[in-house]
Amino acid sequence: MSGRKRLVGLDLGTSKVAAVIAEADEYGEVVVEGVAEVPAEGLRRGVVVNIEKTVHAIQTALVGAERMAGVRGEAVVASLAGPQITSQTSRGVVAVSHPDREIGDDDVERVVEASRAVSVASDRQVIHVLPRAFTVDGQEGVRDAVGMTGRRLEVETLIVTAPQTAVQNVVKCVRQAGFELDDVVSQGLAAGEAVLTPNELDLGVVLIDIGAGTTDVVVYTDGAPLHLAVLPLGGNHVTNDIAIGLRTTLAEAEQLKLNYGHTLPEVIPPEERIDVRQVGGDRFQATPRRFLAEIIGPRMREIFLMAREEIRRSGHDGLLPAGVVVTGGGARLMGITDVAQGVFDSAVRLGLPTAVAGLADRVAGPSYAAAVGLIRWGGRMLPAEDVRERHQPALAGAYQRTMRWLRGFF
Ligand SMILES: Nc1ncnc2c1ncn2[C@@H]1O[C@H](COP(=O)(O)OP(=O)(O)OP(=O)(O)O)[C@@H](O)[C@H]1O
Ligand SMILES: [Mg+2]
Repeated sequence: MSGRKRLVGLDLGTSKVAAVIAEADEYGEVVVEGVAEVPAEGLRRGVVVNIEKTVHAIQTALVGAERMAGVRGEAVVASLAGPQITSQTSRGVVAVSHPDREIGDDDVERVVEASRAVSVASDRQVIHVLPRAFTVDGQEGVRDAVGMTGRRLEVETLIVTAPQTAVQNVVKCVRQAGFELDDVVSQGLAAGEAVLTPNELDLGVVLIDIGAGTTDVVVYTDGAPLHLAVLPLGGNHVTNDIAIGLRTTLAEAEQLKLNYGHTLPEVIPPEERIDVRQVGGDRFQATPRRFLAEIIGPRMREIFLMAREEIRRSGHDGLLPAGVVVTGGGARLMGITDVAQGVFDSAVRLGLPTAVAGLADRVAGPSYAAAVGLIRWGGRMLPAEDVRERHQPALAGAYQRTMRWLRGFF
């Protein structure tokens, strides 16, 4: 198929750098050919804080994935995280330019571009301009305006911005690792791309990607993102709490969480005990496993309460019919969907990467949501040169803008 591209999804997480090489097309099909994961040390809360370590991790992951695949990736799409990423809605309006008043790709591109003209602080950068819906001569709610007839074309978009330095550091690290970066995508949007169904997007859904250092929250309505936020909390904070609460090391706390962690103290039999190695010695302390859940549960609840606050901030009132989808490594905690259900009072499910072929088992877990989503995003937004995305013109236009801007750094 002519629209197929071999892409590399590079997920720069707080705990790991994951690289996935896959073939993708514009319909969302992903065939995984190579996967590699390297523990990350150069990132804090999703932001690069050590260039050298990050470059090394990126290089190791990309080379590892290419070796497994036996081929080179053609285009690299990297994730961007960090609590400084924010979103705002915007509007644009243009007069349809064609004499016959038939709306063309160029009109759509212009109107989306017009919506970009919002005031953004000089140290920030627009990373996404995502069309939500078009209005043609006052008729609202148009998904695809191309081919319609009208005089006045309006658009509502979601604009996502990030600190310039955070983006520049990602570009720099990928470059120094010896690869060209083609696009950056917010981690939350990437995860949503991998785990949400078209039906959920249409109905309205919240995506919560619980990572190690951050939790990405994206509210979707009418098939498109409405609000996006990155919370400065994740699985690492749970591990920290455990280390303090049970007086043990971070490494031991992480192991306890992975092996015995649970979010619901009430389901753990009171007599069940675990051995906890105490700080500064070989002494083990027999501790009720319930203690562990009593530490983990409230922290996860806090994360969900903050996510709920973001739904309120999105301006969307009322329930989101498709409920909540939880993903990211933090979603692997036992009982997590029950805690979320208690907070949101709506349907909650665990989100795993869908519709993946090839080495699918290598990317099956929730911590691969973002990496797989980056591939799907690239497949949809980076059309092969000969394929002009007829049904996604506005998105393609927004993409070309990002590219120009990324290249502008060098
Ligand atoms: N089985 C498990 N039970 C509980 N927690 C887990 C499990 N597996 C992984 N985690 C936690 O998930 C987190 C890592 O998730 P993930 O790989 O999605 O993060 P990341 O993408 O590196 O970080 P971020 O998105 O914050 O930049 C860690 O805090 C880890 O402890
Ligand atoms: Mg992540």
